[in-house]
Amino acid sequence: MERKQASEFPQELLDIFDLYVHGDIDRRAFFDRAGKFAVGGVTVAGLFEALRPNYAWAQQVAKDDKRIQTEYATVQSPQGNGSIRGYLAKPAAAGKYPAVLVVHENRGLNPYIEDVARRLATSNFLAFAPDGLTSVGGYPGNDEQGGQLFGKVDREKMTLDFIAAINWLKARPESTGRFGIVGFCFGGGISNTLAVRMPDLGAAVPFYGGAPAAEDVPKVKHWASSRVVMTWGRPTDGEQIQLAGEAVEYYRYAIDLVQRKAQAPLDDYLSDLVRLRDGDDGKATLHEIGAIAFNLLFAGHETTSSAAANLFKAVLTRRDLWDAICRGTQPLAPVVEEGLRFDPPVQAWRRQTKEAVELDGVQVPAGARLLLMFAAANRDPAQFPEPDDFVPGRRNAMQHVAFGTGAHFCLGAPLARLEVEAMLESVARHLPGLTLVADQDYPYTPNTSFRALRKLMVAW
Ligand code: HEM
Repeated sequence: MERKQASEFPQELLDIFDLYVHGDIDRRAFFDRAGKFAVGGVTVAGLFEALRPNYAWAQQVAKDDKRIQTEYATVQSPQGNGSIRGYLAKPAAAGKYPAVLVVHENRGLNPYIEDVARRLATSNFLAFAPDGLTSVGGYPGNDEQGGQLFGKVDREKMTLDFIAAINWLKARPESTGRFGIVGFCFGGGISNTLAVRMPDLGAAVPFYGGAPAAEDVPKVKHWASSRVVMTWGRPTDGEQIQLAGEAVEYYRYAIDLVQRKAQAPLDDYLSDLVRLRDGDDGKATLHEIGAIAFNLLFAGHETTSSAAANLFKAVLTRRDLWDAICRGTQPLAPVVEEGLRFDPPVQAWRRQTKEAVELDGVQVPAGARLLLMFAAANRDPAQFPEPDDFVPGRRNAMQHVAFGTGAHFCLGAPLARLEVEAMLESVARHLPGLTLVADQDYPYTPNTSFRALRKLMVAW
């Protein structure tokens, strides 16, 4: 049988197959839905065979290739699932090689992933491909059951298994100590996670993912700033017309993004929403999902990019602190937390009282419009001694209100902390000589709520 390219199948059929591969529908539902494509002598079973991976065809390096040595090894993982088994491939010639962890998709260590490990070994890497399904008996020999077993393993424990595996690999006698990771689909997510959790990771190569196209980033950044000014600034009449036009462009971009996800779902949040909707406007319309995209694209990046800029501004003016960060003697999480307290990207938030309340002796009537000053609360000397000092590791550091408080506490707080810490770690590692350009202005987007630097000039 001749192998077809993905582009030779109708997109809708690929989408249905994607749902099946990710466990959103079972095999029977795939056969039902794909039935309409079985025309002109083609059966659904034939379509299924043509779509599903054929590992024998994909193999590039034979199992007994003389250039390499392979074996299965088991790594202890006491904090994860106890242990994790995997496939080790290394060059036949004795020596030291950089190590690469190879992480599979959401169905365990299949023959394709083993082949990738062998390919790396022929390119002079020490490669280890662990099986995340070890605790449930290992890859069962076919992807369908592998996918079902995958859902039974605790994700955080599985992540810890992969961390145990990479630590074991890099410490092996055949390793130079330098190490990286490559992952596919689910494994791409593990690559990203380890890139954040392991500061000494040399390289992470995630395959697949739902990040916006790089060329869209400046557009989204611009639209988000313009939305800040429109919602929380005081634009002139003329400016309002321009800002409203940009808001419409931004919204259209969000809707278009959702429509693209509907046509070609990937492994990401918006695609998941589209899958859950399952074509049913009663559950959610595409416009409703578009509105979520519109809001999350804003909430998720205008805040974190400002948090990072504010943090770098604060930290780079304290040379001892920056040097300690670069030397690795100053833990990063307390620096991020203190940065959020010290100069929060969301300085104020609006609220309306539903009923009359008394706040610290002040009577507030029902229906009053309040401006909650998070930034001022974060510098309250009754809460934070010496509030204008930047002190990583304050005893009550987590009591700041940079993420708000109560029922609407920021949904993205853990992600934001992770992102800002990753930025700090990466910049400290690559640019320890970073300094602020002297005598620069610090222009902020003019508005009441967002502390958003328009630029921060640095040199190295
Ligand atoms: C340093 C970065 C961030 C800061 C300072 C921040 C701050 C805030 C604040 C002050 C609120 C309002 C809380 C309230 O009404 O009491 C909020 C809400 C929210 N944030 Fe964030 N945020 C950040 C990052 C993110 C990220 C990365 C995401 C998503 C990817 C996100 C998603 C949301 C959502 C969905 C809400 C609304 C929650 C609700 O109304 O229930 N935020 N954020």
